[in-house]
Amino acid sequence: KTVLFKDRLIPKEEVSVSIDDRGYYFGDGVYDVFRIYNGRLYEQEAHLLRLERSAWEARIALPYPIREIGRKLEELLNEEKVLGGTLYVQITRGEAERIHHFPERAFPVLSAFCKSAERPLEKIRGGIRALLLPDLRWLRCDIKSLNMMPNVMAKQQAIDSGYDEAIFERNGIVTECTSSNLLIAKEGTLYTHPANEFILHGITRGVVIRLAAELGVPLLEQAFTVEQLMKADEVMVIGTMAEVTPVVQIDGKPVGAGQVGPLAQKLQAAFEATFD
Ligand code: PDD
Repeated sequence: KTVLFKDRLIPKEEVSVSIDDRGYYFGDGVYDVFRIYNGRLYEQEAHLLRLERSAWEARIALPYPIREIGRKLEELLNEEKVLGGTLYVQITRGEAERIHHFPERAFPVLSAFCKSAERPLEKIRGGIRALLLPDLRWLRCDIKSLNMMPNVMAKQQAIDSGYDEAIFERNGIVTECTSSNLLIAKEGTLYTHPANEFILHGITRGVVIRLAAELGVPLLEQAFTVEQLMKADEVMVIGTMAEVTPVVQIDGKPVGAGQVGPLAQKLQAAFEATFD
């Protein structure tokens, strides 16, 4: 297995990460996850721009320009020849003795790998069950930071309780899920949380907004409450791996009729057409 480490494609076994990498000490880094469909990086430009923005907002200098990072990721994919799956890339602030402030002479460390993965078709077709949990994250959820403790804890709590996913709620407002955005449908209109500091600006979310416009389905980037969530006709999780996955149950209560709804099916068909 070949991975990209610093600026070289090398066998995975040859990677040696420093104990002084700030990714370890502080989760001091940013990342992105691309989807690979038909051997190509899906929405490559949007992911690269988001990675660049995350690094900028975290004040991490890119180890080399974003275009060159894009080329290196393509080289990695060409080498790995993954047809369907994901490409993970992260950039940490670099290696330096453990001090909290930015080290003076640290060079950011980039690593990336590809992974084969099947589309989660069972969940996409049949829907998932979700657990509502408080959003305990920081107030810059728009940065795709390596700090994932609240997401990891919430996801595990959902699984421990027999659910597939956790839906975050902050002061009665529904934000998103642990690794995907959320969309609800009420009387034919779709609602999703506005792209501000409370959510990650999902690439899939962007695609779905575009598709809804093309399909003539009204979509509002407007925050909605827990009460609106529980009274929604349909609820959907949208993300790189989830694509458009219907939520058919929340906290043990059925969403709408408790089945995959017509808008979810419509969006799924339109979404599949973007990569087929
Ligand atoms: N997660 N919200 C959060 C908190 C996320 O971590 C993600 C992505 C999304 C959806 O974004 P996109 O459509 O660009 O995948 C929303 C990635 C896949 C991950 O952490 O694995």
